[in-house]
Amino acid sequence: MVLKMRDTQTEVKHRILSDYLGAWAGIITSGLARQAAAITARGIPFRCRLMYVDGFAHKGRYAGDTAEVLRKGAPNTPTWGSPILGIQALDRVKEHALKTYGLAVETVAVLSEIEAENFQDLKESLELAGLDGRLVFDLPQSLADGQIVAIHGDFLKHLDAVVRLAQDRYTFSFFLLDPYGPTGIPYQAVSRVISLQRTDVMINFPYLALHRSLGVLAHTEEMPADRATLANYDEMFGTQRWRDVIHRTKGDASLDKVSDKVEVELAKYYLERLQAADPELAVKHIKLQFHDRDRTIFYLYLTTHDPNGALTLNKVLSEAELTQFVLKWDYQQAKWLHDAQNVGQDFQQDLLFGLSDEKPPESHKPREVDISAHAMDIWRTFRGQTRKVRQVYTSLANSDLFPSDVTKALSHLKKHKLADYKDTKMDTSIFFKKEGG
Ligand SMILES: C[S@@+](CC[C@H](N)C(=O)[O-])C[C@H]1O[C@@H](n2cnc3c(N)ncnc32)[C@H](O)[C@@H]1O
Repeated sequence: MVLKMRDTQTEVKHRILSDYLGAWAGIITSGLARQAAAITARGIPFRCRLMYVDGFAHKGRYAGDTAEVLRKGAPNTPTWGSPILGIQALDRVKEHALKTYGLAVETVAVLSEIEAENFQDLKESLELAGLDGRLVFDLPQSLADGQIVAIHGDFLKHLDAVVRLAQDRYTFSFFLLDPYGPTGIPYQAVSRVISLQRTDVMINFPYLALHRSLGVLAHTEEMPADRATLANYDEMFGTQRWRDVIHRTKGDASLDKVSDKVEVELAKYYLERLQAADPELAVKHIKLQFHDRDRTIFYLYLTTHDPNGALTLNKVLSEAELTQFVLKWDYQQAKWLHDAQNVGQDFQQDLLFGLSDEKPPESHKPREVDISAHAMDIWRTFRGQTRKVRQVYTSLANSDLFPSDVTKALSHLKKHKLADYKDTKMDTSIFFKKEGG
């Protein structure tokens, strides 16, 4: 079996996955805790199930992180891939919900992988992670608590059955749609998944492959291969209009000259397409680059119907930007050291000269948020009204604020006697006064 090393962009993707899955499930379970107590007090059994779906699972593990392997060789412990990370994240939440709220949450997972060798390795990874006792290989009508369904086959062919599981009224699901290489996922499939209620989704938009195909649009005569490439992207965007986005952005300039601008516009357009699937959806995205260049490989898009989830995503993605910066820097340091150790003495000095200081340089300006300005915006939106905290979050779902910013803004309004509330739990009411004082 050949395991790949985990590159920096995959490591960042995995951090986002683990961090957001933990936060997402935490939002659901803390939100349900009160409801559960009221329901069980009336003698009615309470049910809640969290489902992780990894449609394009791959092998479940990597040979180690690139920088780590350069420094110390392959590690002895496995570097898990998304299927194992997803299951582990939900298992942690299950334990936390029971301990903190006495809430019994069911967790289940559905994984699929099309390549036979990858699927065999995936099964071994699940065994190594101690999860094989929970495995089944056929998609049942309903899932028992803890079950992991591993499907060897095309995810898109099983989509109907998986969607049915996600539609169960007790189920909250998280889908990772992470295909490989030039073929994105057809829009028709993506839009079905993101429109599901109680479902959050992370989608890989393989930009590099699209970027490399852009020249096809400039050909005066389309070859059959060109037509196939264009048709693939028509399917991914669910329309041919993406072609117009390029022509409009490019104008008379050559593609090379305006490639950054074209990238920004195409990434924005894909976001609009996802948004078009469901107006209630908040959509966020981040671009992930090569470990040694400022060049985009893919974008991750995350969708949620939950306004708290939307602002939590802002925080997770902002931290991921920083992680990406630090990991790229760390990789470059490890590479320099590795190269220096593998060349003759004469060159060592030259290479070590390129090595930078111990700590990564400042990556971003510290985040600056004008809390009082945001507080006043919230007040102007709701003055004279009584609204739930959740409604305030909903009004801000497309902003780049973090949940803690909203808490601070509300507390600012309370301090200035422009709002009155007991706490900032999602179902608490806030009275926004007409005037201050
Ligand atoms: C980018 S890799 C996934 C990596 C994995 N999500 C991780 O982060 O560890 C994509 C995988 O999807 C598999 N794949 C591609 N098309 C598929 C399909 N239609 N159904 C299921 N698996 C597919 C490929 O064989 C490959 O192993």
